[in-house]
Amino acid sequence: MQDAQPKTIYLKDYQVPDYLVDSTDLHFELEPKATLVKSQLKIRRNPKAGQGLPPLLLDGIDLELLSIAIDGSILPEVSYQETLQGLSILVDKPEFILEIHNRINPEDNTSLEGLYLSNGMYCTQCEAEGFRKITFYPDRPDVMSKFTTTIVAPKDHPVLLSNGNQIDFGDCEDGRHFATWEDPFAKPSYLFALVAGDLENVEDTFTTSSGREVKLQIFTEAKNIGKCEHAMRSLKKAMSWDEEVYGREYDLDIFMIVAVDHFNMGAMENKGLNIFNSACVLASPETATDSAFQRIESIVGHEYFHNWSGNRVTCRDWFQLSLKEGFTVFRDAEFSADMNSRAVKRIEDVSLLRTNQFAEDAGPMSHPIRPDSYIEISNFYTLTVYEKGAEVVRMLHTLLGKEKFRKGSDLYFERHDGSAATCEDFILSMEDANQVNLTQFRHWYSQAGTPILEVTDSFDQATGRYSLKVSQSCPTRANQDKSLPLHIPIKIGLLDVDGNNSILNNEGDIEEVLEVTQPEQLFEFSGFREKPLPSLLRDFSAPVKVRYPYTGKQLIFLMRNDSDTFNRWDASQRLAFMALTQLQQDYRSGEALQLQPELIEAYRDVLKDSTLDPALVAEILRLPSEQSVAEMNDLIDAEAIVVARDFALKTLATALAPELLQRYTALDHQKPYSPNAKDIAERSLKNTCLSYLAATEKDDALNIVQKQFETAGNMTDSAAALSALINYGSAPKVDSAIQEFYQRWKDDTQVVELWLGLQSSSARNGTLANIKNLIKHPSFEIKNPNKVRAVLGGFANRNFKQFHKEDGSGFFFIAEQVVMLDKINPQIAARLVVPITRWQKYSDDLSGKMREALQGILDSGGLSKDVFEVVSKSIN
Ligand code: PHE
Ligand code: ZN
Repeated sequence: MQDAQPKTIYLKDYQVPDYLVDSTDLHFELEPKATLVKSQLKIRRNPKAGQGLPPLLLDGIDLELLSIAIDGSILPEVSYQETLQGLSILVDKPEFILEIHNRINPEDNTSLEGLYLSNGMYCTQCEAEGFRKITFYPDRPDVMSKFTTTIVAPKDHPVLLSNGNQIDFGDCEDGRHFATWEDPFAKPSYLFALVAGDLENVEDTFTTSSGREVKLQIFTEAKNIGKCEHAMRSLKKAMSWDEEVYGREYDLDIFMIVAVDHFNMGAMENKGLNIFNSACVLASPETATDSAFQRIESIVGHEYFHNWSGNRVTCRDWFQLSLKEGFTVFRDAEFSADMNSRAVKRIEDVSLLRTNQFAEDAGPMSHPIRPDSYIEISNFYTLTVYEKGAEVVRMLHTLLGKEKFRKGSDLYFERHDGSAATCEDFILSMEDANQVNLTQFRHWYSQAGTPILEVTDSFDQATGRYSLKVSQSCPTRANQDKSLPLHIPIKIGLLDVDGNNSILNNEGDIEEVLEVTQPEQLFEFSGFREKPLPSLLRDFSAPVKVRYPYTGKQLIFLMRNDSDTFNRWDASQRLAFMALTQLQQDYRSGEALQLQPELIEAYRDVLKDSTLDPALVAEILRLPSEQSVAEMNDLIDAEAIVVARDFALKTLATALAPELLQRYTALDHQKPYSPNAKDIAERSLKNTCLSYLAATEKDDALNIVQKQFETAGNMTDSAAALSALINYGSAPKVDSAIQEFYQRWKDDTQVVELWLGLQSSSARNGTLANIKNLIKHPSFEIKNPNKVRAVLGGFANRNFKQFHKEDGSGFFFIAEQVVMLDKINPQIAARLVVPITRWQKYSDDLSGKMREALQGILDSGGLSKDVFEVVSKSIN
């Protein structure tokens, strides 16, 4: 818990470490409440750190210190001091062996950082600063050391794992057993991992491009062993892909994945021993939805890709987090795009960015992808660092082109292999490999906020000249410096009256990347007979908002004709947003609500278009979420957003019912389940049609839903039907469906999580009361983050309507849960509070209630650094 006034850490204060650790020998004797840790560190004064022998500062939290020795002699108490943050040891020689013994309590560790127990299995989570909860150590990523780890445990924990290769194992005299692991690669402490439990594994092999055979293992509890196949297949695909696309080969003889039920994030890239949230590794057709299958593929890829972008080359300090995360998210996104539908993957990622990252960047925690300061680094594992960070890397890829980008990445890995690097090093490699100048591009790393591009155009009939004027600006928050113009790649096409791409230049290109660098810039094109229609920011070539005065007609034209699939979808989003804005206004001015017939017809055309990828049809049909509409509004009127969207949805559903039914029926074939792109696309459209049909709330539609619920042969169809019932069905049937589903799946953790989430995101009145019951349900566990995310996160983040009730009941409920959860798991509590911190954008009634809820949290006192940082930055 927090000290008097939590300290802010600044990037500008970075200093190299005073001491280096050449080797780290760890010895664990595992006991639930009293695990003994013995560490032997070979320490040396850092030659780059200046003169003299300053005290050695080691981080350590919640540790019981037993003894300290230097070169074999026990240190007298006058030679060291225990502080709130760890240990300070007086040093009188530049090189020595430090041996520390300490005790920890894994069983009571509910923060899930450091060493903890999950269903009786010991596991660790050390990123970012969890290693200090295991033993005293310079717990910072620029201290890299070679680790050897011995684990001693009772034999009811038969599997003992750590990083690298197992070099020894055997029985102890007292009936316990042990294993020793050695990792040949130097690594920072945040990549350390240990697992001990009663686990089974599936095994496979992969032969690398240079012909080395790697053993692949996935470990789970016995009951889940049948759910590992998809993750294993994904892993092998990822290993080949990284060889082909980046020339990166795996470097150890063994690669292990362990699934654990209690985990704060998705997964962790510990060297050679990735630890995964069970939800991100386990799947079977009966129990996992298509999106779970796809999430698993991308996360397995993501963690595997970290072996190079993160582990072989790591981060100098935590301000550089996006160096590994932005790059790795870009890598996993391209991997998923290559394995599945590229356009759909892009649409999903951009939706997430626009809805949630844009909101973060406009809110009280707004920060650049390389933050300048933090109170608690765990709060900076954000959509900005990850997703916007990936967009920044993608822009480099767009500006340089595939070959040059690869040259830059090769140079980066070559230069920095085995060391801790910075974002600046990454840019420098891109520059040096290609002789380009990215000076202005660097501002993307230091400036927060979502840039806005205002685009206008003009056409001169006499000369056939068409010009686009682009001006850029970036809204800044009070505490930020004025922003400098950014270097922004805008990929465009110009459509003629027939909807074809015009030729843009002498090379005959039909698409061009305009490089915007000035506050205001003019781009000219010639040779036109008529004014073309611009297709702007194709493929979402930069993380910005583009404003151009499109008419509804023009958007419908783009929706029908644009050769850029992404922009066809984007046109539909703009169109829907225009309609929803109008509906909101009409609602507030007391006018009758109506949807333009042209809009309905445009949707009908898309629905009937059998040449389009069904997944794309589904994406176009899906109205923007309330949350994404909220993000686009300067002032959020939650009630009007809900009314407008409900009206649009119901109107479309009713008007398109015949076509929806037709497509639904055509797609409702009982094929055996396979999570391939084509089948996923078909199920996606089928279930989108189903949910629209349900929204009519007509009996025959609800009967179809009921039938799908009863006969579904896979979890995608089953969950879609249950969700439609929960949101639109009539009470007795809904209740029995909910109960039936639970009885069938109550022993499957992943399905139960899904079941909880569907209920907490129900738009139906009475959901909050139901949630208050759910948190008392035997399947709910406040110490399990997945359950918390399903129920409380589902309510605060995915239930716009019920969370934003005008009496503030949703906010006060979440605030209460945050205070309680903060004592258990500060990281999870700090994430849960975020939805109520954006009060500044809401209209008065809600805004006041949110503030009140926040003040209540602050007044409760004794907050963790995590929650304190998020709440105090929002309220001050
Ligand atoms: N480094 C992990 C990833 O992105 C995320 C993570 C951070 C996991 C902190 C656990 C704790 O892949
Ligand atoms: Zn990552």
